Amino acid sequence: MIVGRVLRSGAYSNVLLGTLGSGPDERLVRRLVYGTLRHLVRVDRMLERASSRPLDAIEPGLLDLLRVAGWELRLGDGAPHAAVNETVSAVAQAHGKRAGGFANAVRRAVQRAEEQVPAGPEGRALELGAAPWIVERLAAAWGDREAGEFLAASLQPAARTARRRPGVDAGGEQVPGIPDAVVVGTDAEGLVPMDPSSVAVGWAAAPEAGMTVLDMAAAPGGKTMHLYDQMEGEGILVAADRHQRRVDSARRRLAAEGISVPWVVADGTRAPFASGTFDRVLLDAPCSGLGTLRRRPEIRHRLVETSPTRAGLLQRRLLDAALELVKPDGYVVYAACTVFPEETTDVVAGRRADPPPGLPGRPAGNGWLLGPHLTGSDGMFISLVRP
Ligand SMILES: C[S@@+](CC[C@H](N)C(=O)[O-])C[C@H]1O[C@@H](n2cnc3c(N)ncnc32)[C@H](O)[C@@H]1O
Repeated sequence: MIVGRVLRSGAYSNVLLGTLGSGPDERLVRRLVYGTLRHLVRVDRMLERASSRPLDAIEPGLLDLLRVAGWELRLGDGAPHAAVNETVSAVAQAHGKRAGGFANAVRRAVQRAEEQVPAGPEGRALELGAAPWIVERLAAAWGDREAGEFLAASLQPAARTARRRPGVDAGGEQVPGIPDAVVVGTDAEGLVPMDPSSVAVGWAAAPEAGMTVLDMAAAPGGKTMHLYDQMEGEGILVAADRHQRRVDSARRRLAAEGISVPWVVADGTRAPFASGTFDRVLLDAPCSGLGTLRRRPEIRHRLVETSPTRAGLLQRRLLDAALELVKPDGYVVYAACTVFPEETTDVVAGRRADPPPGLPGRPAGNGWLLGPHLTGSDGMFISLVRP
């Protein structure tokens, strides 16, 4: 079951759900999985009150089914009874009659009990689907109102979006302010599935034909393709990433699109290039991913209070290394699909850094911020940093 694989095996929901088709059954599965993961803490509180056993004493697969049914019953907006009845029969089938009886009892108790959301910060955090420390951290940086807006928008489903490659006439509805970013109905040739905030990063890099460019943390290669398209096949574009498996699959993905660039497996903090080699280095940094909550709702359950600081330390080291590699008149595009200050504004503070021009969103320190509450896109921080 998808919820179990996400919660216990470290799988990403968008990857597992991305393998499903787009029929009504698949749409229902997506709604149930995303709904349950977004509101897991709330659902577990309800189940704790409704169950005669502590949740950690319930067999994990059974607990997942109860979570999905609990979400559908109390927080879903579909036709609860059909889905919930199916869940109870699934429990009986998979876990035996006794478990079916237990599931039924829990269901009745969830149905009867009023959800009791505590007052104050704890209740607000529950409603926003985030741990209290996340709400506090964002409120300290942006104020209560914007923190709430970002987290509320992060609970909404993301539209299906793509970048339209040059010369492609495939349809799609243009996303305001980000050229070639489109909302699409289905996949089609020439449309590269990606979030508009990622398309914005490619535009911020603005490589020109004939330049020498490094994409330092490049897999799975979405932004590499955008750099390549802007360079019109002229110049040198090198893609690097630390992880061999990710490099292998990115290389195959780009080759399937007819794009051949040299791929290097390298830790960006010790990349095998001479200082001052590149006109541009794109550092699309590994990060906590808080900006991608709409498609990867489980991230909220994986982060701990030290995650942003830990990520920030690696990001600074990668940025220092990237700055070594650019020519004196070149620049590093620092991007991170997160919004914690430790991984964004703090990383570029005190450096020769500026926001990229011409994008929708808002200024944030020495950089620029896009987000579900600002631009209807994922959260993304972008800054142009000079050596
Ligand atoms: C945000 S993802 C990059 C997404 C990619 N730019 C794209 O648009 O498709 C961050 C990448 O950083 C890589 N990474 C993590 N640590 C790294 C390091 N020390 N050096 C280079 N790459 C690293 C990860 O393997 C991951 O592929």
